[in-house]
Amino acid sequence: MVTECMSKAVNIYTDHFLLDEKTIIDFVKDNLDYFDRDASLHAKEIGDGNINYVFRVWDEKTGRSLVIKQADKKLKSSGRPLGVYRNKIEAEILKLQNSFAPGKVPHIYHYNESMCALTMEDISDFKNLRTALLEGNIYEDLSREITDFMVQVLLSTTDLLMDRHMKKEFVKKFINVELCDISEDLVFTEPYFNYKDRNVITAGNEDFVNAVLYGDEGLKKEVGVLRNTFMNASQALIHGDLHSGSIFINETGIKVIDPEFAFYGPIGYDVGNVIGNLFFSLANKLVTAPDHTDFISWIERTISEIFDCFKEKAVHKLTTEIEFPLYNDGFINDYVAGIMSDTVGMAGTEIIRRVVGDTKVKDLILIKEGKEKIKIERALILTAVSFIKNRKTYTCGMELIDEFRRCKESVNV
Ligand SMILES: Nc1ncnc2c1ncn2[C@@H]1O[C@H](COP(=O)(O)OP(=O)(O)OP(=O)(O)O)[C@@H](O)[C@H]1O
Ligand SMILES: [Mg+2]
Repeated sequence: MVTECMSKAVNIYTDHFLLDEKTIIDFVKDNLDYFDRDASLHAKEIGDGNINYVFRVWDEKTGRSLVIKQADKKLKSSGRPLGVYRNKIEAEILKLQNSFAPGKVPHIYHYNESMCALTMEDISDFKNLRTALLEGNIYEDLSREITDFMVQVLLSTTDLLMDRHMKKEFVKKFINVELCDISEDLVFTEPYFNYKDRNVITAGNEDFVNAVLYGDEGLKKEVGVLRNTFMNASQALIHGDLHSGSIFINETGIKVIDPEFAFYGPIGYDVGNVIGNLFFSLANKLVTAPDHTDFISWIERTISEIFDCFKEKAVHKLTTEIEFPLYNDGFINDYVAGIMSDTVGMAGTEIIRRVVGDTKVKDLILIKEGKEKIKIERALILTAVSFIKNRKTYTCGMELIDEFRRCKESVNV
């Protein structure tokens, strides 16, 4: 059992300044009662992301530790200005998610708004899911854990289950202009137009991308529909960046981190992100370790189960918890079918943006340039195009895997 820490107001933290491995120790002692005042603490910057600063602070003697995530007014990687409201959103969302899915996100101990510093549970005994999958680890409970999390957090924040006035207050509170702007551009625009000249296409796939993405008006129309859904469907409080690097895992379960892109958006965006990113784990292993058949069949099964379990659990939760009589079984089935078609479409847009956009995933980066990489990326793109165009036609998870197999077979290089 973790004890809540008492917060103390200390005035030097009223104006934002960037913490470092020295000042973070005073910050922790001045703001929280988590460690003894005279404890000899250690600190290390552990952040490997592009946006914020993440520190671990620990007491060797007691073994106690904390993690502090601080936002700056400029991006850590490029120095580009970015508003800090995302940090307040992250703090609030983690608390909310913890109330709907207890233990599945890091516990928040303290939030200092002027310093944009979020102090939370250290989850170092959990492993980054993307890394764990690249190492070939199998987690039999992954589909159950992640669908439990998504169903609990996402459906509970819809106005089917939440008081509708409160939901509207949340929509307002969690408007996330700058971070949504990033997704609207990187996910739903640039991969199809390259208007900022930032797409990064594997050598040998330029003509393919020209024909299959830039030259397909039918595809663009469907991406337009998904973009419009992303921007206008205030359905639930979504995580907004639920890729496999935001999910941490060990034998006891999962912890989901980094909800700074959260806003009221379509549920299918989160579910589609999870599914889309697991296709990268599958693609990586098919090329780099085709003999790892245990892993390959498990990851295929997991993708398929995530689709099926989410659908089944969503219908069950809504059927058992909705009280409003117009939202009957027929309504619920249509509502969940809509989420599932968004899911498939958004898995498609996630796959395409990682293959041709400039924010790559390790799973693909680690495949060495050459014929095999060209082939697997074409298979991913063709699968994604079908997911986007035919998103309403998939009725179970195995059909997604079959689509990928078909597309992979059809690629001729
Ligand atoms: N509560 C935590 N406990 C342990 N490690 C953590 C915790 N939170 C973050 N980390 C570590 O810091 C890394 C970066 O965290 P996070 O993804 O939240 O930062 P970010 O700057 O928002 O990154 P990104 O560029 O991916 O958005 C994580 O991948 C993880 O290794
Ligand atoms: Mg982040």
